[in-house]
Amino acid sequence: DLYNFRHIGPDTKVHGVIGNPIGHSKSPHLYNAAFKSAGFNGIYLPLLVDSVANFLNTYSSPDFVGYSYTIPHKEAGLKCCDEIDPIAKAIGAVSCMIRKPSDGKLIGYNVDYLGAIGAIEEALGGLNGSSNGAISPLAGKLFVVIGAGGAGKALAYGGKEKGARVVVANRTYGYEDKAKELAGKVGGKAITLAELDDFHPEDGMILANTTSVGMKPKTDATPVSKNALSHYSLVFDAIYTPKWTRLLLEAQETGAKVVFGTEMFINQAFVQFERFTGLPAPKQLIRDTLAKNT
Ligand code: ATR
Repeated sequence: DLYNFRHIGPDTKVHGVIGNPIGHSKSPHLYNAAFKSAGFNGIYLPLLVDSVANFLNTYSSPDFVGYSYTIPHKEAGLKCCDEIDPIAKAIGAVSCMIRKPSDGKLIGYNVDYLGAIGAIEEALGGLNGSSNGAISPLAGKLFVVIGAGGAGKALAYGGKEKGARVVVANRTYGYEDKAKELAGKVGGKAITLAELDDFHPEDGMILANTTSVGMKPKTDATPVSKNALSHYSLVFDAIYTPKWTRLLLEAQETGAKVVFGTEMFINQAFVQFERFTGLPAPKQLIRDTLAKNT
């Protein structure tokens, strides 16, 4: 009943999530339900895309107004924007794209880091101090980001913005290494994923997984050994299917706070909904729809 298409007509605004694979995405359920609840004449599709550039060139109608980006297209999406928001530019990846009604230009944004960092800050007890000069609970913390793709870049950027000391751990290491490049950008340090198990310069570190390791159907895989988790006070996993990855289960067993990928997903969905529609997000409906579908 989420897909009530009776409203579709010449004024319907088309949106979608661009990715590959795309079958796991909960975004179509979520946005179609939210559009309906807000009385917004829009539709949101799962878009299995090989080439972002070819897709955008083919579907250039002014009614194709908004896209979300997921694995592996967040960086390719950046290259296809007519205009790039400064934060997306600094991160080097887009998480959503909006067509300007006035001239049809595509503007790229990145709201990933707001969603994830906000959820981590909340779990750490919220901001300290007054709202003006508020200090993030991430300030001064050692913040280890696993992965150096689009989501890894957003988290590393967010960590730096909040005053954390960032460490990027990625699978590939060596010549033209992505982790080194990203660590350089955020004034941090790069290590290999293989080194992560023995990396514990201090206790109370914060860990964020942005790779697909642990995503269905490889649910028993984990990017870091359980032993190493005892050095972390909080573990975040960007994966939201399943909600409990092996990483989060083991983190909880080890005594760390856990932050679910669903929190990042929900926070960035609120922001994207408002960008897509210009209307306030139906927050409870978005939470309920996601809870029903994960
Ligand atoms: P996204 O845009 O969602 O971040 P991405 O740009 O494709 O997706 O990045 C995926 C990240 O997950 C990369 O850091 C990738 O590591 P490589 O740079 O070595 O490719 C990491 N990744 C994906 N599958 C992995 C696996 N099986 N083991 C370890 N890391 C993996």
